[in-house]
Amino acid sequence: MSHVVVVVCHGCCCGTARKHPDVDHDAHLNRLEQAIQRCGQGSVRVSECLNQCSESNLIQVRRSRSEHGRSRREILWFGRVLDDDQVEDLADWVEQGCAGDPPEALVPHLFGPSAVRYRSDLFLGSDPIAGSSAQEREGRVENG
Ligand code: FES
Repeated sequence: MSHVVVVVCHGCCCGTARKHPDVDHDAHLNRLEQAIQRCGQGSVRVSECLNQCSESNLIQVRRSRSEHGRSRREILWFGRVLDDDQVEDLADWVEQGCAGDPPEALVPHLFGPSAVRYRSDLFLGSDPIAGSSAQEREGRVENG
């Protein structure tokens, strides 16, 4: 089982009725705290701002787990988490120690470096360097 820290942003933009008046922020925080208790491994922290306000509401999941015999730390950033269903999916995953891939419904909400691992839509296509021939890379291709 992995160790999990859930960071819930409640700052100038996230977790505020001013910006998201239709969201029950306290209920979401309570549900995630309940999930961590059920998980038995980890904690919930509240942040004032994670400097990604455009992605409000923001929740960060930090997990460390064993992969191929090595301990691996990972930080997953979930943005625009506003719906009860999204929080419920996240809480269910937290209860399971955030094992495996994030819930499918939340994958589109991933952003930042670790998102590339889970979001196929972020794949940028073939590498312009690796996809070219040695001649093209060296500028030895003649036109015409
Ligand atoms: S208030 Fe949440 S990222 Fe700034």
